[in-house]
Amino acid sequence: MIIVLFGPPAAGKGTQAKRIKDKHRVAHLSTGDMLRAAIAQGTDIGKKAKALVDGGLLVPDDVVIGIIAERIESEDCAKGFILDGFPRTLGQASALDAMLAAKKRSVMHVILMDVDQSRLTKRVETRVAETLARGEPVRPDDSLDKFKERLKVYNEQTLPTLPYYEAQGKVRRVDGMQTIEGVGAQIDAILSDEKSGKMGARP
Ligand code: AP5
Ligand code: MG
Repeated sequence: MIIVLFGPPAAGKGTQAKRIKDKHRVAHLSTGDMLRAAIAQGTDIGKKAKALVDGGLLVPDDVVIGIIAERIESEDCAKGFILDGFPRTLGQASALDAMLAAKKRSVMHVILMDVDQSRLTKRVETRVAETLARGEPVRPDDSLDKFKERLKVYNEQTLPTLPYYEAQGKVRRVDGMQTIEGVGAQIDAILSDEKSGKMGARP
């Protein structure tokens, strides 16, 4: 089971990826989390990526493709994995298909999390408040101006990747405006359709 969670910043990709991981015992691959870890550890990739990640801009394709190519070799990816925040460009999507095809595997579903963009700012504000309440450092890209930049990057560079997957009949839309549980139930329905063999493309 290889699933892509696709959606704008703060749509709830990470939240739902954790749910699916726990329920289906597959790996959760978040390129954002991996880049933040590399930055925190001060690795070469982290040093290259820091200004871009903090500024809400995309890290070059070759860097994130390299990270994913290495990560999917791990044993915990053998059963399947959820991609959260990857691919974000057409170049990343075609590289992913090529690396999976070499292993005779393919993406099963691209789950598009539809959320009104006006609602996303509220979600980031909530996340900032929750992070502060836990006494943890706030993500540098969660400021209002950096968030606007991330949204612009999503609209201009990531959203145009969707037709690539639509042409493959792999896009499944979920209403991301519902509660966390409501969104989770929609994803569960998509995944259980797959298990029972009902593979018809959804609108
Ligand atoms: P990344 O870490 O992927 O960030 P993002 O896409 O901007 O998304 P977020 O992590 O902010 O949001 P999310 O959708 O995971 O939502 P969450 O579940 O947290 O990327 C960060 C940066 O890394 C990029 O800007 C780029 O620089 C770089 N990068 C990463 N991948 C890259 C790639 N492939 N190529 C190039 N560069 C890359 O939820 C948000 C909040 O809403 C939480 O508080 C949550 O509790 C709440 N919430 C969730 N669902 C609901 C709901 N249904 N109702 C109400 N509240 C909800
Ligand atoms: Mg996330």
